[in-house]
Amino acid sequence: MIDLAERLEPHAARLRATDLRTLFAADPDRFARLSLRLDDLLIDFSKEKLDAQAMAALRALARDAGVEEARDAMVAGAHWNLTEDRAVLHMALRGGAAAPAGDDVDGTRARMLAFAEAVRSGRHAAQAGPFTDIVNIGIGGSDLGPAMVARALEPDRDGPRLHFVSNVDRAHLADVTRDLDPARTLVIVASKTFTTLETMMNARAARAWLRRAVGDDAGRHMAAVSSNVAGAAAFGIDDSRVFGFWDWVGGRYSVWSSIGLPVAMGIGAAAFRAFLDGAASMDRHFRAAPLARNLPVVLALVGIWRRNAMGWPMVALVPYDQRLARFPAYVQQLDMESNGKRTHRGGAPVAHATGPVIWGEAGTNAQHSFFQLLHQGTDVVPVDFIANAVSRDGADDETGGDHQAALLASCLAQSQALALGRTEAEVRARMAEQGADTGDIDRLAAHRTFPGDRPSTTILQRRLDPFTLGRLIALYEHKVFVQGVIWDIDSVDQRGVELGKERAAELVPALRGDGASGDGTSDDGASDDGARGDRAGLDASTAGLVAALRELSQ
Ligand code: F6P
Repeated sequence: MIDLAERLEPHAARLRATDLRTLFAADPDRFARLSLRLDDLLIDFSKEKLDAQAMAALRALARDAGVEEARDAMVAGAHWNLTEDRAVLHMALRGGAAAPAGDDVDGTRARMLAFAEAVRSGRHAAQAGPFTDIVNIGIGGSDLGPAMVARALEPDRDGPRLHFVSNVDRAHLADVTRDLDPARTLVIVASKTFTTLETMMNARAARAWLRRAVGDDAGRHMAAVSSNVAGAAAFGIDDSRVFGFWDWVGGRYSVWSSIGLPVAMGIGAAAFRAFLDGAASMDRHFRAAPLARNLPVVLALVGIWRRNAMGWPMVALVPYDQRLARFPAYVQQLDMESNGKRTHRGGAPVAHATGPVIWGEAGTNAQHSFFQLLHQGTDVVPVDFIANAVSRDGADDETGGDHQAALLASCLAQSQALALGRTEAEVRARMAEQGADTGDIDRLAAHRTFPGDRPSTTILQRRLDPFTLGRLIALYEHKVFVQGVIWDIDSVDQRGVELGKERAAELVPALRGDGASGDGTSDDGASDDGARGDRAGLDASTAGLVAALRELSQ
């Protein structure tokens, strides 16, 4: 195993001793040297706290970690998902790799798209007429992908309205269905396993909602997407409306599969294919471009630099595009469920930091909430900025306001302010120029100083559409993969979600007061034994909380 600290520390030490202002001043070509392009997609790494030598060390790391060999093995169908002993071939869903022999990717996609078109055209309709609304019921990868994409591509939607229900909280389904007409609504149950608690409970509740309105006709109002086709059939959804995918598609990589059905219903088959084509263009680039010019590889290496050389534990993802507002949540699952691991592929504990905490919000909204901390807080949080040059809604409005210029200027201003800051001397000079008296200058100068030297990467493209969105998602997918290879972890399983699921199943009887397993309370609702835990072996805290919830719910 490569010692990341040993490789990177000499470069980190050199760069800790300088700052971004100095690095920009020293090299007029810094932007040209540290930015990359693929067609209209540009990534500017020049505001990251690194230099050409550090980049060369990172590339050597990628080479020695076997990134190219791992990529080729994944594409060739090797069982890259070790703990589940599965291939990892989501690229095959968009033509970026070959599918395993016998798995009919093209045929399955054609069937799914034909159904989407039948719903759009009214050929598959309810008795009351064509479906006006689609409700997708799923969670995690069976929700975040299609929900994020549907929102991002709203200008492309010329089909029924799309809604998404994920949370087991009854409020989610209730609020989404409140203003919908069940007689004109189609429900898609999306679950790779068709066993997920939240999805199955919501699916049953949605079926009951449909039945109350349309009785036995409810079957026409339901479709399913799953790799457990038998499970969907057992739920009672007609085979003709069950769309499968394969175990070599991870949940958080499944938006390209039949899981994209609601999106296809909204935007149509041609636009859905353009979405796949965009991802395939990134796949081709990822497979062919040399490490130094390979966008996902360099994005991954910069992430390794932030995490393992500089020790920064977080990344803020800030798209300057309101329609990408769910993109941070999408990447959160993609990245944190993949690389939030502490065990090497071989089973030994890792000795270095792995996946960072990812969070974010659309700009400019984010500027008015957490950017204060990014500029002047005590922690350094690197930012990924994403922006599209052209608005799909026109830039000017009738009042002459140029929204797009304001949006883009804000994006560039934030990365510039983070990188360069404003020194105390500059603050003092500026205040003096504005006529402030010395007392005020002394009192306020420190508060108005920005330390700067805070890193960011900026990703630009011409505009947000099905092709460029597909390409952007694939960029982050491959970045996550490359980092997993360098960290030598299994990026494709998600064992970390299991323990909580098991515990929740055990706690339901306790919360309901079903005596069998013991609920931590005596008959009068008081805790049996706070210090020891209860009959079911609950810890004192959980037993106390169960008792309190039961009491409060009376
Ligand atoms: O949260 C764990 C997880 O397995 C995710 O990886 C997945 O996207 C989600 O649950 C939903 O799973 P399913 O599609 O099987 O319902």
